Amino acid sequence: MSRRKIIAGNWKMNMTPSEAVALVNELKPLVANDEVDVVFCVPAIDIIPAMKAAEGTNINIGAENMYYEEKGAYTGEISPAMLVDAGVKYVIIGHSERREYFAETDETVNKKVLKAFEHDITPIICCGESLTQREQGITIDWIRQQIKIAFLNVTAEQAKKAVIAYEPIWAIGTGKVATTEQAQEVCAAIRVCIGELYDEATATAIRIQYGGSVSGASAPELFAQPDIDGGLVGGASLKPDFGKIVNYNK
Ligand code: PGA
Repeated sequence: MSRRKIIAGNWKMNMTPSEAVALVNELKPLVANDEVDVVFCVPAIDIIPAMKAAEGTNINIGAENMYYEEKGAYTGEISPAMLVDAGVKYVIIGHSERREYFAETDETVNKKVLKAFEHDITPIICCGESLTQREQGITIDWIRQQIKIAFLNVTAEQAKKAVIAYEPIWAIGTGKVATTEQAQEVCAAIRVCIGELYDEATATAIRIQYGGSVSGASAPELFAQPDIDGGLVGGASLKPDFGKIVNYNK
């Protein structure tokens, strides 16, 4: 079975609303590729203007985070219903920066994943090891644990629609892209783990991205790997190079 690739930009804390509109307009023609799913995950305040600017194109606008409660006294948080009402279909959950700076844990990631599915939003679930963990040789064990907790109480039907982003922390924003072999090895191990948690059909259906310093130059080889179904792209998603990444197959 061939899985449709999904290439997502993660804008992080960049772009004011007016800059967001300008960037969508600039990238629009460059990211036209109907053979892949294209998502721009943008800061919450940029979602609506970016959505308007992307109207009629192949660009999906996604969110970078959301909270796991429906509504109420949670100052500063964004609810799933707010995202749905704005037309959002994808949300990044558990990015390593949120884990590092905003105290997210595997448990909060799991709560957010369940809530996203409840609202029919596709979670892009992040996992990844630190350099120390890689050097200690515990990468696969660590990632398996992150995945097992993230998918607690998630049904097979839901899991089939999930997207997992494998992002080695040491490769994020460092220009130090994992080797194709390293990326493929972990993405394959994630698929095995999903197969153990669910079944073969779920493991075959789920899409697994690689993230960490992906560029137009590294994308073709990475995305040609059997278990890598696209990328989650930070720095390069703010530049015309994102067009090359999205059109890696041209
Ligand atoms: P990067 O970020 O492409 O700038 O390394 C990737 C990410 O954090 O999603």
